[in-house]
Amino acid sequence: VPLNVGVVGATGLVGSMMRQLLEERDFPVGTLRLFASARSAGSQVDFKGEKVTVEDAATADFAGLDLVFFSAGGSTSKALAPKVAAAGAIVIDNSSAWRSDPDVPLVVAEVNPHALANMPKGIIANPNCTTMAAMPVLGPLHEAAGLKRLIVATYQAVSGGGMEGIDVLARQIAAVGDKGAALAFNGKADFLPAPEKWAVPITNNIVPLNYVLGEDGYTEEELKLRDESRRILGIPDLPVSGTCVRVPVFTGHGLSINAEFERPIDVETALALLGKAPGVVLSDVPNALEATGADPVFVGRVRPDRTVDHGLAMFVVGDNLRKGAALNAVQIGEVLCGR
Ligand code: A2P
Repeated sequence: VPLNVGVVGATGLVGSMMRQLLEERDFPVGTLRLFASARSAGSQVDFKGEKVTVEDAATADFAGLDLVFFSAGGSTSKALAPKVAAAGAIVIDNSSAWRSDPDVPLVVAEVNPHALANMPKGIIANPNCTTMAAMPVLGPLHEAAGLKRLIVATYQAVSGGGMEGIDVLARQIAAVGDKGAALAFNGKADFLPAPEKWAVPITNNIVPLNYVLGEDGYTEEELKLRDESRRILGIPDLPVSGTCVRVPVFTGHGLSINAEFERPIDVETALALLGKAPGVVLSDVPNALEATGADPVFVGRVRPDRTVDHGLAMFVVGDNLRKGAALNAVQIGEVLCGR
C-alpha cells in the first residue's frame, strides 16, 4: 500500500538526500509532502518528475500523513515531532532530539531493527552519522565475540555540518587557491580565510573540536558516539573513548577503531563475518571518496590489536549523508513497510 510521506527539512542537505533516496529506492510513496521553514515555504521541488510545493512546517496541517522524516535540527524536532505523531504519522527523526529517550527506539536498520517493536511515542530516532558508520561493522563482531571496550578516532567530513559546512570549506579552499604550498612553512599565512563554523580554518587543517564541549572534556559528538553505541548494540555500560576530528573532506566519515572483545576473535574470522555483513563491503584502502555516493560502509586495515587480550584494529568509512543520515532513515521506513 502506498504511504502518505512527509519530509520536514526537505530543502536541507539531508532532507534533499531523503527525497532522492525515496525516488531511487522506489519507496512506496502515495503522496509526498515537503516541509521547511517559512523562508522556503512556497518554493517548488522535483519529485519523480513532478513539482511539489514546500510548506511552512510551523503552520502546516499534518493530518493524513503515514510516515514523516525529520531532518531540520534538534529544536524543530523537539517541537514538531510530537505534534506530527499525534496527528497519526510515524516520525523518523534524524536529529539528536530524541536519541536518548527510552521511549524512542534508536535504530540502525541492519543492526537492531527489533527495537522498532517498542515505540510508544510514534517516534523513531536515527543515529548520529559518525556512530552510524561503525554500527554495521561492530554489530556482527559484537555478536560473535562480545564487545568489551571501544577506542575510536574519527576523520569527519564537513557535510556532516549541513549545507553550511560544504559552503564554508568550498569558500576556504577557493580563498587559498594556488597559494597552498606556502602553508608548508607558515600556518598563519595572510591569505588564510578567517575561521567560520569551526574555531580555526577547516581548509588544509585538522580540527579536533567538533563544536560543543560536554562532560569530562569530551565533545557532544564524542559523547553521542559513546551513548548511541551503547544503546544500539545493547551494552549499557560499554566503555567508549572517542576523539572526533573534522577534516577538509566534503563527504565521507572515516573512523579508526580499536575494539576489545570478551572472547578471542582473529582477523580471518572477523573478515569472514564482515564479508557477509549486510551494508558492509571489505576494502583494501577504505577512503572517503570510495564511500561518497555509495550505500554500504567500507571496512579494511583489519588487524590484531595486541595491546589487549582480544583486540582488533580497523578502519571504517561511510557516506555521512547516505548511511550516516538519509539512507538509514529510509531503510527504517522500509523495515516498517515490511520490505
Ligand atoms: P529552510 O531551507 O527553509 O531554512 P541543512 O541541514 O542543510 O542546514 O538544512 C536544514 C533544513 O531544516 C532545511 O530544510 C531548513 O529549511 C530546515 N529548517 C531549519 N529550521 C527550521 C524550522 N524552524 N522549521 C522547519 N524547518 C526548518
